[in-house]
Amino acid sequence: MKTLNYDRYGDSSVLKICEVAIPIPKKNEVLIKINSVAINPLDWKIRNGMLKIITGNHFPKNIGCEFSGIVEKMGEEINENLIGKKVFGFADNPMKNGVLSEYICSTLNCIQEVPSTLSLEEASAVSVCGLAALQSLKTIAQAQSGQSILIHGCTGGIGLFSIQLANKMGLNIYGVCSTKGVEISKEYGCHVVIDYNKENILNIKQKFDIILDLSSKLTYSNAKNMMNPSSIYIDPNATPEVMLKSFFINLVSSKKCKVLLTKFNKEFLNELTTFLKNGLKVKIFKTYSFENSIIAYKETEQNGSIGKTIIKLF
Ligand SMILES: NC(=O)c1ccc[n+]([C@@H]2O[C@H](COP(=O)([O-])OP(=O)(O)OC[C@H]3O[C@@H](n4cnc5c(N)ncnc54)[C@H](OP(=O)(O)O)[C@@H]3O)[C@@H](O)[C@H]2O)c1
Repeated sequence: MKTLNYDRYGDSSVLKICEVAIPIPKKNEVLIKINSVAINPLDWKIRNGMLKIITGNHFPKNIGCEFSGIVEKMGEEINENLIGKKVFGFADNPMKNGVLSEYICSTLNCIQEVPSTLSLEEASAVSVCGLAALQSLKTIAQAQSGQSILIHGCTGGIGLFSIQLANKMGLNIYGVCSTKGVEISKEYGCHVVIDYNKENILNIKQKFDIILDLSSKLTYSNAKNMMNPSSIYIDPNATPEVMLKSFFINLVSSKKCKVLLTKFNKEFLNELTTFLKNGLKVKIFKTYSFENSIIAYKETEQNGSIGKTIIKLF
């Protein structure tokens, strides 16, 4: 089967399509024929070596954190018949093994049946950003109806899910994005959209209960002026430096700085699926073929996405 590998850290030029054997599922695993894989910033953070301290120096490595596909085989310990089922999910350990291959093996903890509200392509693009948005709002911010939220970077993968979830939770939603994302932000439910090409967010007088900084361009120090004494700023850049910094901020300030460390587990995947069944939408920005997957990574890293970019294998 074909897989997208790299055998050293670097930019998208280290990626190459290779031929490897189809994996054999363990007793508690299923073999999945991959339909689509969605691209995430985490993919290139791992590939660039930014997380080398965790990912180590064992090569080759595969790329990709989330997928959809069809179950083709089952390990002997799996009781229910899943053959032929459409599933979506996340890599068991993306720091070790990616999912952009024609086939992968997965335990049932990492997958969920695709709800009838989604296509297989759309389902490939929900696990990482959907769980990150859900946990940011519900677990970290413990958002309450009537609160205000600033989503800084509201048109990316997490952004569009966050707008929709914040709407379901009854929040007042302000979003920041570039000109090209203004219309879709409104369409997805953002109440006030600030175009960063035209207006500097630092000049606005508004205070927010929750600030979700998905662009990493705002920073806690700048956000402080837009926070009430009990507001929460959420940083998705879960590096050791950011975690250490947030620890010290939280010791001295009532304006909290929380780091997002998304938990990938079945419980949250079930909860996300309920939202998907109830109309949570997935925006697919661009679709590339597997043969063009290296170009897909290069272009997405350079130009970004409105919603999600996916690579479709069949
Ligand atoms: N810690 C965790 O558990 C976890 C989990 C998932 C993701 N993440 C991280 O979360 C971050 C966001 O992920 P994502 O998938 O949503 O990324 P993404 O799809 O690349 O979205 C980034 C967003 O930032 C906006 N942006 C770029 N420059 C900006 C600026 N100067 N001012 C305001 N907005 C700006 C983009 O809008 P334009 O395109 O219009 O510029 C886009 O809306 C990434 O760093 C990712 O690695 C962390």
